Amino acid sequence: MKRKLLITGGAGFIGSHVVRLFVNKYPDYQIVNLDALTYAGNLENLTDVKDQPNYIFEKGDITDESFIDDLFEKYQFDGVIHLAAESHVDRSIMDPLAFIKTNVLGTAVLLNNARKHWKDKMDGKLFYHVSTDEVYGSLGEEGFFLETTPYDPRSPYSASKASSDHFVMAYYHTYHLPAVISNCSNNYGSHHFPEKLIPLAIHNIKNNKPVPVYGKGENIRDWLFVNDHARAIDTIFHHGKIGETYNVGGFNEWKNIDLIHLLCKIMDQKLGRPEGTSAQLITYVKDRAGHDLRYAIDATKLNKELGWEPSLQFEEGLEKTVDWYLENETWLNHVTSGDYQNYYNEQYQKR
Ligand code: NAD
Ligand code: DAU
Repeated sequence: MKRKLLITGGAGFIGSHVVRLFVNKYPDYQIVNLDALTYAGNLENLTDVKDQPNYIFEKGDITDESFIDDLFEKYQFDGVIHLAAESHVDRSIMDPLAFIKTNVLGTAVLLNNARKHWKDKMDGKLFYHVSTDEVYGSLGEEGFFLETTPYDPRSPYSASKASSDHFVMAYYHTYHLPAVISNCSNNYGSHHFPEKLIPLAIHNIKNNKPVPVYGKGENIRDWLFVNDHARAIDTIFHHGKIGETYNVGGFNEWKNIDLIHLLCKIMDQKLGRPEGTSAQLITYVKDRAGHDLRYAIDATKLNKELGWEPSLQFEEGLEKTVDWYLENETWLNHVTSGDYQNYYNEQYQKR
């Protein structure tokens, strides 16, 4: 095998797209997917690649030091693409410590083991940390996040991601660990867990349930198709400069309420409902605590230096996403059974 890669969080939303891309595109790389299979991890996301000869799944926790040590020993990785995380802002408001444990301690455990196992030969190794634009805080109506924008996280989730980014750079500067970071905007697409806005709205519209919009729906997010993020990760992993940060975004800002109206229109068409039917489900609910107003990424550096750009227009990507959810009812039923109902009740009942 030409390369031996550890991908963490590969059973999650973005991770499963990254695993699929690498397994199919690089048959001469050995891909080890390490995932704890939390509520967000789902091996059904990877049924199409699970039997490929260059793919191995390992169940385990990134905070478990001896397990991670043994894994590095067993596979002799020369690259890590680190996506495993607690990723939902609302859950971080309910239980911040879980985010500190996985996102901060888990990242530090991985860094420490990469350092330990690579110390005699750092050449040809790479620790790639996948992070978020939320570390930069919240924008007003103007401006964009640049790679040089100071960190200003506002939620327990973004604070934990910011902290993990700082540890990555600390290992780069202090121990010369070859590392790179990317900070991406909101992803959407297939296999997205229906706690996040777009899949939650699709699920509720399909079932004629209220679509909860926080506050006045005026918050703005920059949306990127998940396959384009996976392509960016591939590009940065192979061509990014060690010690650098790359912003990844869709140049595609939407006010939440406008996005929900577009989604309702697409759902009406797909479900054969009269136009305007789904929009009646929109329900304004109590705002998220500390709700960041606007995220907007300037991804010029990635475009100019490494030639990456998004491949899809938002309307087309959203339509593809809706089609996937309507065609994959079993997947949706599986992930919304059991604990999902408990979370949903706790999060939305009192709003
Ligand atoms: P996700 O919640 O869908 O998946 C996270 C995965 O990590 C799951 O498979 C889960 O089982 C696994 N995991 C959680 N804790 C673990 C642990 N302790 N040990 C091993 N595995 C564990 O998340 P996602 O949306 O796919 O995000 C992936 C990464 O990308 C995260 O680091 C997130 O911060 C970052 N990111 C996400 C977005 C987005 O819009 N979703 C945007 C930018 C960056
Ligand atoms: O910007 C990148 C980040 O995008 C990632 O780092 C996070 O992992 C990912 O979850 C996402 O964070 P957001 O908080 O922006 O995504 P979410 O889908 O939870 O919410 C999008 C917007 O919609 C946000 O303004 C809150 C709002 N919202 C969300 C939910 C779940 C609602 O109005 N109603 C809802 O029910």
